[in-house]
Amino acid sequence: MEEPTLLHSLSRNAARADSFLLLSDQDASFSEINNRISNNLALLASTVSMRAASFSRRERPIPAHEVTAALREITARIVAVGHLHSLLATRPHGANAGFGAHMRELCRLFVSALAAPGQVELIETGTNDCTVGADDFLPLSLIVTEVVTNALKHAHPAGAPGKLMIGCRRKPGGSIFIEVADDGVGLPERFDFSADAGTGLRTIDVLAQQIGAKTSFESRAIGLRFTLRLPATDGDDQAGAA
Ligand SMILES: Nc1ncnc2c1ncn2[C@@H]1O[C@H](COP(=O)(O)OP(=O)(O)O)[C@@H](O)[C@H]1O
Ligand SMILES: [Mg+2]
Repeated sequence: MEEPTLLHSLSRNAARADSFLLLSDQDASFSEINNRISNNLALLASTVSMRAASFSRRERPIPAHEVTAALREITARIVAVGHLHSLLATRPHGANAGFGAHMRELCRLFVSALAAPGQVELIETGTNDCTVGADDFLPLSLIVTEVVTNALKHAHPAGAPGKLMIGCRRKPGGSIFIEVADDGVGLPERFDFSADAGTGLRTIDVLAQQIGAKTSFESRAIGLRFTLRLPATDGDDQAGAA
């Protein structure tokens, strides 16, 4: 029951964030920042309460490693909101901000929050001046959060050291290409997205649809590769790069 609520609140919050981003007046920037942060905190709260609800439905005691994993995921999300907050504070309008640097920092923070020291090597597979519009910035951050959290949680279930490859490129013409790949076990055999996707994959789907991005998950002999393509929209040519 909780999941539709989360997805609904995601769409509503993102729509609200979008409408705030239409404000370009200097005076609006403070309320804009606060509203975006508060949207993020609302998302965080709904994720935590969803977890609490799923734990409370369990009849048996919950193993310590599951509780640890859940708390680590929550930590990662708090870290993500904190980073977004500091980014917005230094770039109030957030318009046409470079997503590559933000993504790199976000991934670095996730690795230090979710993995043991030295367990995950972060590798950049080519990042250029990956400028994205203000209204795509938050949904893209949330998508990357889910994909990277999954890689750190599921790629190496036995705790073997692994690699996380990340890239963000802005193509000539303005479209955006993002990839996140791990070198782990890949999706379980006969994985069926409609039946087996959890909140993370469904959140990615909803957010990608919202911004008109195409996503794919390619489960390979070694690891899972996620790609996202966001077509250029009117005005992207002025946004730089190419
Ligand atoms: N990088 C990955 N490597 C291996 N399996 C993955 C990866 N990402 C996702 N999965 C699989 O997809 C399932 C659904 O992911 P998700 O919707 O995020 O839910 P959750 O992470 O809460 O299980 C996971 O339980 C896992 O089996
Ligand atoms: Mg997940």
